[in-house]
Amino acid sequence: MDIGQFIKGMPKVELHAHLNGSLSTKTLIELGKLEYGESNNEFQRICESFQQKQEFTLEECFKKFPIAHALTKTKDGLRRALLSVIRDFALDNVVYLELRTTPKTTTKMSKTEYLETVFETIRLASSMYPDICVKLLPSIDRSKGIEFAKDTVHLVLKALKTHADLIKGIDLSGNPASGSFNDYTKILSEARNNNLKLALHCAEIDNDGETYEMLQFGMDRCGHGTYMSSQNLNIAKEKQIPIECCLTSNVKCGTVKSYQEHHFKNLYSSKHPVVLCTDDSGVFDTTLSEEFIIAQKTFDLKKKDLEVLSLRAVDVSFASPLEKEVMKTKICKYFYD
Ligand code: IMP
Ligand code: ZN
Repeated sequence: MDIGQFIKGMPKVELHAHLNGSLSTKTLIELGKLEYGESNNEFQRICESFQQKQEFTLEECFKKFPIAHALTKTKDGLRRALLSVIRDFALDNVVYLELRTTPKTTTKMSKTEYLETVFETIRLASSMYPDICVKLLPSIDRSKGIEFAKDTVHLVLKALKTHADLIKGIDLSGNPASGSFNDYTKILSEARNNNLKLALHCAEIDNDGETYEMLQFGMDRCGHGTYMSSQNLNIAKEKQIPIECCLTSNVKCGTVKSYQEHHFKNLYSSKHPVVLCTDDSGVFDTTLSEEFIIAQKTFDLKKKDLEVLSLRAVDVSFASPLEKEVMKTKICKYFYD
């Protein structure tokens, strides 16, 4: 079997994916037809022109999210979008998905309704797509301010009473150039004290001081970890903080010059816990298989490396011990049967 096919069939674990960034162009166009009418070619043109773009700046990337947000502002749109995203990951043989999304108030839904619709839909998907296990990391958008963040965490803590099986932790994301990490430490500590894991976007842009503060504060996983000074990297290594590497996202946004120069290489060869993730598979027109294929080709990974990476992703996931056992069994069966 050729290595690409092998990777496509491999049971995979996705730990860093944002819901509204994971809508494929096809899904955006389908949802756009429902929202704006069959004959709205202008919307289709905008979606396709984004898909064709090979390079963005981080700022340009953030301009794409409102297109998806406009289509997920109703319960029906959100439900359809989420089902499409889960289906797409399932079709790519992702067996475990920690999906992130920012609970938001829209013109049609309260923040509570947004979150409830997400839970309802994940439960519905578990019968439609039984081969994928989906968990949620509600996101704090650091560009929306501390009051918004507090409200989100308090809603999530309330939701733990009925959805503790689905909520695995909190993500801190949003435009990394906006807001200050210090503003969020109090509310993130509250989340942590309530047994929620923390997956924080960290060192996505060059801001050593903030990265240092974040690493000192601590986190269960680091999103990106691109701009790490050697001092900060040493802290991440001492603390054994797993780093979620999103190759295509970083290269297309220009925060990493090329695949060859991606920090994945040094992290992996120094045996630091590292995972491959998509970030926004729709925005960057990728899949988790594609990310593995790129890593395999660029860094000349062998099957043993693919197995190590897959099992490491299970280890650093926020799944329960039993869920981890199930995943490891599937992965080992694929590699050794
Ligand atoms: P949503 O939370 O489901 O609406 O997914 C889109 C949101 O994820 C964006 O509005 C950002 O707040 C966040 N996001 C997606 N990709 C990135 C990234 O690379 N860095 C930081 N935040 C991101
Ligand atoms: Zn991200």
